[in-house]
Amino acid sequence: MVKIDNIELGEFPLLLAPMEDVSDPPFRAVCKEGGADLMYTEFVSSEGLIRDAAKSVQKLDIFEYERPIGIQLFGSDIETMGECTKIATKAGPDLIDINYGCPVKQVACRGAGAALLQDIPKMVKMTEAVVKATHLPVTVKTRLGWDESTKNIEDVAERLQDIGIKALTVHGRTRVQMYKGDADWTLIGKIKDNPRIKIPIFGNGDIDSPEKAIEYRNRFGVDGIMIGRASIGYPWIFNEIKHFIKTGEHLAPPTTAERVRVCRKHLDFSIQWKGERTGILEMRRHYATYFKGLNNFKPYRMRLVETLDYAHILEILDEVTDIYALEKVEA
Ligand SMILES: Cc1cc2nc3c(=O)[nH]c(=O)nc-3n(C[C@H](O)[C@H](O)[C@H](O)COP(=O)(O)O)c2cc1C
Repeated sequence: MVKIDNIELGEFPLLLAPMEDVSDPPFRAVCKEGGADLMYTEFVSSEGLIRDAAKSVQKLDIFEYERPIGIQLFGSDIETMGECTKIATKAGPDLIDINYGCPVKQVACRGAGAALLQDIPKMVKMTEAVVKATHLPVTVKTRLGWDESTKNIEDVAERLQDIGIKALTVHGRTRVQMYKGDADWTLIGKIKDNPRIKIPIFGNGDIDSPEKAIEYRNRFGVDGIMIGRASIGYPWIFNEIKHFIKTGEHLAPPTTAERVRVCRKHLDFSIQWKGERTGILEMRRHYATYFKGLNNFKPYRMRLVETLDYAHILEILDEVTDIYALEKVEA
């Protein structure tokens, strides 16, 4: 049984990655149903939270059925991170996660996210401030290092464990790599081989099939896997991996009717959550992935993204269900 502090996560947990503009409550609802064992919010800016910015505060909203869930924070100022940890703790998550992995300029070039990989003493102090500011378990998500010549994750893992983090997720790329090239899990495996490391280590990067999940689990000995992009428009990935691990067999891919049902659940929650116009607009980017593999889907997608009328969207989705009812869908 893998545990983060006293949070029990099962034998080989699958985590939903924090993803800005993606892993909001509507998306998390479909991933929970799809089998995610632990979920994280989108990253929350500590500066925004301190200023009470609406966008940051809204990201703290979590629902009972989502548990266990972590709120992910990022920032460049140690004191502010401590303060916003207190605010986030009041929102009642099961744990607090710190983002030391975000590579995008607006974050990393302002001293937050992956920038801390260039200043390990500051990272340690910041983590300490967060750990001290909450009674909840604190986890960290980061990358292998800043660039090819500074892959310091093995040292980072020991130092962060020593100051009290309860789990570590490592994305097998450096900051400089952004999302380019293949994720390399070799150093993640080395952390697991270190007898001093007692906390769960979760691997992250490029897992997009049950076969790859099992292969990477076996090769690198991780305690669980975090999945990001492969879950977008395909929340079935979690249960598919679990089923394959348990039985060695593949679950049947979702039928078109099932895809429509889950897509609609996502859409309805988005509208409820963000209001009709924004909910519909933000759902547009998800249709292509929900219906990936359907032959000649493009005209339907075009129609779905051209309308702002909810009833019309439902009509198109019904049409998709009927038209593709007999089609074989490739996963
Ligand atoms: C759209 C998008 C938004 C992301 N936002 C965050 C974030 O808010 N916090 C974070 O730690 N990582 C973020 N990431 C990185 C993912 O959590 C994950 O580490 C990365 O996508 C690699 O995993 P994957 O190959 O399974 O997608 C984001 C990734 C994507 C694609």
